[in-house]
Amino acid sequence: METVLITGASSGIGYELAKIYAKNGYNLVVVARSRDKLEVLKKEIFEGISKNVKVTVIEADLSLENAAKRLYNRIKLEGLKIEVLVNNAGVGIYGKFSEFNEKIMEKNGAMINLNIKAVVELTRLFLGDMMKDGNGGILNVSSIAAFMPGPLMSTYYASKAFVQSFTEAVREEVRNDIRGKNIKISVLCPGPTDTGFEKSSNLTESSLFEKMKVMTAKKVAEIGYKEFQKGKVVIIPGIFNRIAVFVTRFLSRKFVVKMARKLQEKKNKN
Ligand SMILES: NC(=O)c1ccc[n+]([C@@H]2O[C@H](COP(=O)([O-])OP(=O)(O)OC[C@H]3O[C@@H](n4cnc5c(N)ncnc54)[C@H](OP(=O)(O)O)[C@@H]3O)[C@@H](O)[C@H]2O)c1
Repeated sequence: METVLITGASSGIGYELAKIYAKNGYNLVVVARSRDKLEVLKKEIFEGISKNVKVTVIEADLSLENAAKRLYNRIKLEGLKIEVLVNNAGVGIYGKFSEFNEKIMEKNGAMINLNIKAVVELTRLFLGDMMKDGNGGILNVSSIAAFMPGPLMSTYYASKAFVQSFTEAVREEVRNDIRGKNIKISVLCPGPTDTGFEKSSNLTESSLFEKMKVMTAKKVAEIGYKEFQKGKVVIIPGIFNRIAVFVTRFLSRKFVVKMARKLQEKKNKN
């Protein structure tokens, strides 16, 4: 049985991906800060999906310094071999960058550590092993935010553009290496999805989720899993999201950034 490591598996898209991987016969290593929620997931898999799936719960805050390396070392110590890495954990911060105070800047730094640094470090560590084995897969979770600048969520959008560019570039390197022929690397770019993200990012203040079509985490995870298995590089779930990304290609950057601001504006803006 192959093992998948999923970060941010305690809720939303990661939680749904974990159940899909379990259904498809993978053992799981699930990571997040909320151990209790990961234990609920483990129980749900054991009672509702399969008693043969081994679920290893690891509580970790991936925004902390060296967290990725510690997670990797812990996995090695437990003798686990990871065939698939899903870098899903991510957070957002809503608000005007010019008005960020020290406290929000601290949160912003933690977001950059989680959304970018942990993704880069985990990718490097596990990709090294996959290259030695000549086998494996990495699915990084970005967003349709990667395709445009995002006023009122500037660092979050930029972090997802980083993940997008990074993943596509590494994929091209790996594909052109004889040891990487059997390694799948993809990036999943959801649009607005009904998860804990809207609340945790303070996006409830924004009109984004009212103006855009919102998908369920289950649907996003199903599409993500299916397309990743097929080897699709950039996975954008939902026709509405695909059209939105496609259209931005033909619009001026100036127009796109204004459009993104309109989408992100506060609900009660007068
Ligand atoms: N929902 C959307 O509209 C949307 C759209 C596009 C892209 N995405 C992306 O999808 C991914 C999953 O988000 P989601 O929508 O499923 O949101 P979610 O329900 O809030 O899930 C986020 C996951 O990340 C974990 N996490 C947060 N901070 C962490 C930290 N410091 N260390 C380790 N784990 C941490 C959370 O667990 P704990 O709190 O237990 O740590 C949770 O499991 C993110 O990368 C997000 O940027 C979401």
